[in-house]
Amino acid sequence: MPMAADAPIGIFDSGIGGLSVLRHVRVALPREKLLYFADSGYAPYGDKEEQQIVERSLAVAGFLVEAGIKALVVACNTATAAAIQAIRRRWPQLIVVGIEPGLKPAAAQSKSRIVGVLATRSTLASKRFIQLREQIAATSEVRFLSQACVGLVDQIEKGELSSAVTARLVDQYVAPLIAQGADTLVLGCTHYPFVGALIESAARHAGLASPVIIDTGEAVTRQLQRLLEERALCNNNTPPEALRAYTTASASTLETIFASLLKIRPDIVQIT
Ligand code: DGL
Repeated sequence: MPMAADAPIGIFDSGIGGLSVLRHVRVALPREKLLYFADSGYAPYGDKEEQQIVERSLAVAGFLVEAGIKALVVACNTATAAAIQAIRRRWPQLIVVGIEPGLKPAAAQSKSRIVGVLATRSTLASKRFIQLREQIAATSEVRFLSQACVGLVDQIEKGELSSAVTARLVDQYVAPLIAQGADTLVLGCTHYPFVGALIESAARHAGLASPVIIDTGEAVTRQLQRLLEERALCNNNTPPEALRAYTTASASTLETIFASLLKIRPDIVQIT
């Protein structure tokens, strides 16, 4: 697989969550061509069997590889936990960067030594996450409280970022973590930064004056940049705004979401 510096970078998620990573990539690497794939027709991944998540992730990654990418960002905690090994095995030459809940930065910042982790059911049940949690807990003496946020990805996919239903759901997941002493909350799903304000206000409402919220989108972007530099694959020539998006659901919904969350209107192609 020949790699060229002017080849695009592929970024994918089960839906729109990966835009919370894409926004950092656009800032850090403004000259790169980006292909974003929202697998919204199959979202949420978080309630699916591991094998189904692996199959979808390989299909989406395969589509992006066919499109000629030089690097792939798996901007989905659920897909990273289930499928990153399978992706790396299938395309060993490709730069592949995944995303994981930020337990390490959370442990470094928590004063109460109790950290709440918000993620999908599948991520929290994965071997990869359990291993990470045990490793960080053993070295930091922090206690991690896991909370699966069932239904939250669906609300965000619908664009309901501040509705009463979404706020109630967030409250229901956040309040028990604060009641148990958590002072730091990890956003272990790339959709959740888009309801960051609701999460913060739920924590305040539950009595935590200054909650610390951990999002790893920026750390993932730094890792991508480091790997591109290491292999001399940074592009210096493309003009900005070289972004194309694909979706397995409706193009007009994704268009609305790009416009409202990132204030941009990329080319969008609907994949059937
Ligand atoms: N954005 C995905 C993640 O980071 C959401 C998973 C889902 O579709 O349930 O885990």
